[in-house]
Amino acid sequence: MTHEAIALTFDKWAQEGRDAGMETGHGDVARQVIDQMDIRPGHQILDLGCGNGWATRILGQVAPGAGAVGVDASREMIARAEELHCYTIRARYEVGKFEALDLPDARFDRVFSMEALYYAVDLDQTLAEMLRILKPGGSADIVLDFYGEAEATHGWSEALGLALNLKSEEEWRAAFAAAGFVDIATKRVIDSRGPGDEAAFEPGDCFPDWAARVAAHEAGSLWIRAAKPA
Ligand SMILES: C[S@@+](CC[C@H](N)C(=O)[O-])C[C@H]1O[C@@H](n2cnc3c(N)ncnc32)[C@H](O)[C@@H]1O
Repeated sequence: MTHEAIALTFDKWAQEGRDAGMETGHGDVARQVIDQMDIRPGHQILDLGCGNGWATRILGQVAPGAGAVGVDASREMIARAEELHCYTIRARYEVGKFEALDLPDARFDRVFSMEALYYAVDLDQTLAEMLRILKPGGSADIVLDFYGEAEATHGWSEALGLALNLKSEEEWRAAFAAAGFVDIATKRVIDSRGPGDEAAFEPGDCFPDWAARVAAHEAGSLWIRAAKPA
C-alpha cells in the first residue's frame, strides 16, 4: 500500500461528499472517547488522519486555550477541512504522512485518531512518530472499527483495494508496547444510537448487508489508550 493509493481513495471520498458520512457515522463513538481524554486548558492535540477535520474542530474547543492540528494524506480532505473551518476555533490542518510528521518533537499533550491508524503504510514508523511528537507523559487515544474481533469488517481491505493492518486487540496492545508506549489499555465502545435504521440501510463498500452492519455495531469500536513514558 502506498500513500498515493490512500490519498487517491480519500480524495475521491471527499469529492463524493463521503467525508460528511464519516462525521455522522463516527461522531457518537468519537465524542464518547474525547469526553474521557482528560483534555486540559492549553493542551495541544494531534488528530491523526483527520479527514475533513470535524474531530479536530471538536478537540480545539474542548478546553480553554486547547489547540488541535489535523494531519491527513488526502489533499481533498484537507481542502474540505479548510472550507469547514471556523476561525474562532484553535484548529489547523496539514497534508502529511503518519510515517513522517512535519511536526516538532514533544509538541503535543494528546494524540487522537478515529478510524485511521490501520491504514498506516508503515505501522512501526507511525507509532514511533506518535511517540516522538508526544510530550513525556502525554497519551494517545486511538479508535478502530477494523480489527481482528470485528469480523464483519474484515472485507474492507478487499473492498477498498488497500492492504490494511488487521490485528486483534491483543496484537494492537503488543504493537504499542513494542514501540515503547506504556499504560496501554483497550476497551470496546458501542455507538449509543444503535446500528441505524434498517429501512434506510443501503449496501456499500463497508457493509454488504444489514446483518454485517448490525454485527459491526455489536462488536463495537476498539479504543486503545497508551502513554509516552513520563
Ligand atoms: C477512514 S478516514 C477517517 C477520517 C476521520 N478521522 C473521520 O473519522 O472522519 C481515514 C483517513 O486517514 C487518512 N490516512 C490514512 N493513512 C494515512 C497515512 N499513512 N498518512 C496520512 N493520512 C492517512 C486518509 O487519507 C483518510 O482521510
